Amino acid sequence: MGLIHKDVPLETMDFQWWNPTRIIFGNGKVRDLPDDLDLDWNFDDLERVFVVTDKGVRDVGHLDYLLEAFKGSSREIVGVYDGVLPDAESAQVYEIAREAADVKPDIYIALGGGSVMDACKAAAVLEKNGGDLEDYAGMYLVPEETSPIICIPTTSGTGSEVTWGAVIKDEENRTKIIVGDYKFAPKVAVLDPELTKSLPAHLVVATGLDALTHAIGALVSVDRQDVSSAISLRVVEMVADNLEKAYHHNSTDLVIRSKMLIAAMMAGIAFQTALPGADHGIGHTAGALFGLHHGLAVGIANLYVMEYNMKAVPHIYASVARALGVKESGLSDEAMGMKAIEVLRDLYQRVGVKLTFKEYGCPTDDEFIDAFIEQSLSDATMGFNPVGVDKTPEFERLIKNCIGV
Ligand SMILES: [Fe+2]
Repeated sequence: MGLIHKDVPLETMDFQWWNPTRIIFGNGKVRDLPDDLDLDWNFDDLERVFVVTDKGVRDVGHLDYLLEAFKGSSREIVGVYDGVLPDAESAQVYEIAREAADVKPDIYIALGGGSVMDACKAAAVLEKNGGDLEDYAGMYLVPEETSPIICIPTTSGTGSEVTWGAVIKDEENRTKIIVGDYKFAPKVAVLDPELTKSLPAHLVVATGLDALTHAIGALVSVDRQDVSSAISLRVVEMVADNLEKAYHHNSTDLVIRSKMLIAAMMAGIAFQTALPGADHGIGHTAGALFGLHHGLAVGIANLYVMEYNMKAVPHIYASVARALGVKESGLSDEAMGMKAIEVLRDLYQRVGVKLTFKEYGCPTDDEFIDAFIEQSLSDATMGFNPVGVDKTPEFERLIKNCIGV
């Protein structure tokens, strides 16, 4: 792509790369899934399937599409849970785990957006291991591998179909529980663009901003390496080329929808080994404290996090600018990085996204801002930010910029 500076040294001399998920892409691939499973040794002798989804996905007919595919196959659907809310809550995770425990599934299928996939993963952990979600909050704390999970995304943003992470809202404490472990990594991701045709334009945008932020966050993550960076730069190009088209053409262009779906998956692969930092720490907090959609929350936060990080990684943000289509030459890396922010701000506005949290109803009083700062500092993703975060005037300014005060 020629976007990475040729004279920059390797970002790290020490990394591992692992991607455990088989990816199946194409129109109608959900229909072919039972036959595909017959050819996959991970599913030998596994017959009992439990499906996790939500009411919206059921209402547009995607659940019927899946159930129809399994009719006459050697596998049996032994349960369906369709009550996952847009921001997966722990209460639903416990409910799924209880219902699944009654029927002892061999296979889980998560059919939906990030909330559905994350709720399914977390419930599979509980069904297998018992205990509470808090027991597994953090990295690599899950004792036993879950039954194999198949993810079928109906949105194009989260990348959860290829990650071994789950983010669940703890409604009681108004915080997010993050669980990460190889032991529930999806075995298969089925990317069927037909399923994203029903996604309204505003959700294509919101979830697309999540994918874009995953990619930019992965590019500057303290765990970045050249594999994730190469993938991430391509994601930035794909989202920049297609987000506005997807917004305007809505569901009419399956090629555009396909590109967004593939970009979101690729971003998931990239950020799984190079986790994003403050953009997600702040975004998680906005979601937990005033219910802002995850994609909008991290996308808005990213605009200001890029400024905050600029001095540490200007060469990377300069690459982002090139991937976004900035053609100017002779500018310093920092000036190019600032151009990237400008391009993003313009793009956001063209697809109907506001640039501050307060425009989405975020409180602006001092007490709320203090609570916001405290909670975002404690988010697990903060440790992956290339610039340290602490209770400094600079960090307070960052939060106030995101809120818009
Ligand atoms: Fe995200």
